[in-house]
Amino acid sequence: MTEHVKIEKADGILTLTFARPDKKNALTNAMYGVLADAIAAAETDKATRVIVLRGEGDMFTAGNDVGEFATMATGNFRDERHDSRCDETIARSTRPLVAAVQGRAVGIGTTMLLHCDFVVLAENAQLSTPFVNLALVPEAASSLLLPLRIGYARAYEMFALGEPVDAKTALDKLHAEAAHVAARLAKLPTGSLATTKKLMRNAGVLLAQIGAESERFAERLQTAEAREAFAAFAEKRAPDFAKVAG
Ligand code: COA
Repeated sequence: MTEHVKIEKADGILTLTFARPDKKNALTNAMYGVLADAIAAAETDKATRVIVLRGEGDMFTAGNDVGEFATMATGNFRDERHDSRCDETIARSTRPLVAAVQGRAVGIGTTMLLHCDFVVLAENAQLSTPFVNLALVPEAASSLLLPLRIGYARAYEMFALGEPVDAKTALDKLHAEAAHVAARLAKLPTGSLATTKKLMRNAGVLLAQIGAESERFAERLQTAEAREAFAAFAEKRAPDFAKVAG
């Protein structure tokens, strides 16, 4: 395990597990770095035919670490950033991506699912994209992909209100179902799967969208609204956006 991500490889399947359950698998910059490296390496590793994403504990992931957002907002985040690189690596990946989601998938936890080819949702899965609640904007090309996937009206509701959307498949079947799908995919011709996926997903359009989103996201992080949202989270209180200017 490196930096709260477990990496396991067996039978052509690379399993990447978010392993920071005490913080609800909130994703840190270091975790994005590990995920980006592992997914990029899989592209040229003939022994990796399928990638499975999953989370330890009671939820998939609570999304980006809000504490790190707060540090970025102050301009004091000195480490090399890996979040956009991780988004781009996922968007570029030609390996089948399978996700197994129990409990909450917040923010990037949901938007990364839009780049997955199979998403297995437990009965208690709840997907949410509360970017606006944090005074931010959608990322990882989700402003393009979510409306395409569920229609404009529902996507707008998810982005604007940030409310979780429920799912169905039984929790006890979750990992078996994900493993079953991954095993079937691992037996199929990788070249054909990769080309099919490239045809279905226009990586150039996605990368351009990620670029546009990243610029706006960086701007939003510096706003008084965002600082108020992060402070409210740290102080375990409701944010008061009325007292700050847009
Ligand atoms: N970043 C950093 N820490 C987080 C986190 C996040 N995204 N999500 C949860 N945590 C931490 C909590 O601060 C808490 O830490 P503490 O024990 O040191 O106080 C711990 O994980 C447990 O979280 P808690 O809020 O007690 O769990 P919960 O089951 O009551 O609620 C969530 C789970 C996901 C609903 C809630 O934690 C939450 O809303 N998190 C923020 C989600 C978010 O806004 N993500 C960014 C989207 S862009």
